[in-house]
Amino acid sequence: MTAGADSDRLKREAAQRALDLVEPGMRLGLGSGTTASHFVDLLGDKVAAGFDVLCVATSEATATQAKARGIPMATLDELPELDLTVDGADEIDPQLRLIKGGGGALLREKIVAAASQRMAVIADASKLVPHLGAFPLPVEVVPFGLTATRRHIERAFADLGIAGSIRLRGGTRPFVTDGGHFILDCSLGAIADPDRLAEALSPIPGVVEHGLFIDYARTAIIAGAGGVEVLDRPPETRN
Ligand code: A5P
Repeated sequence: MTAGADSDRLKREAAQRALDLVEPGMRLGLGSGTTASHFVDLLGDKVAAGFDVLCVATSEATATQAKARGIPMATLDELPELDLTVDGADEIDPQLRLIKGGGGALLREKIVAAASQRMAVIADASKLVPHLGAFPLPVEVVPFGLTATRRHIERAFADLGIAGSIRLRGGTRPFVTDGGHFILDCSLGAIADPDRLAEALSPIPGVVEHGLFIDYARTAIIAGAGGVEVLDRPPETRN
């Protein structure tokens, strides 16, 4: 089996295990990306067999997939409180802090996760890292004043002693998010203090949201060569 096929099988195994968290009648947030799409697919099978859920999607792509699988969908305005969101991640650290946004859906993903009593993150074992930051941190920004916003972000990095480079996703043909924004991918290397970095980025005018998910994931379901492991966030890091 190729490495890609192997990783895809592990993503599906993690998604399969996440179905154990889903109870009849639940209001669910559906994540975005390749791992979350396995979850949507498997949930579609359950719904086809008569299982009752009502879901909110974190991206247009997920909404399209879920509707095609016959999953009952609502908007977050119709269903502003959710029981559980199941989503993927680009990196997961031992405190279950995440980098998300590789697929560009981080804003809606964070809004939906924040509306959920519980967030479970599903991934293959390659996503589990000792320190966040090898994966470039996506920062979603308003197109207006892009250069000024970028300079503020660079200054925030400098103030925290972080060296890094920033790249506009898509370059001369920028990637546009579902919300009509751009994404700056910030290559930072190991982030010494993700909490401080999140606090420094949030107040910058023009920054809509960043891809650091601190205090969101309660559970991580990680599929590796040795099987599926369920990790719960250490109680002392829960708010
Ligand atoms: C989408 O914007 C992301 O946050 C995804 O959840 C993340 O990139 C993981 O995607 P994969 O499951 O495709 O690796």
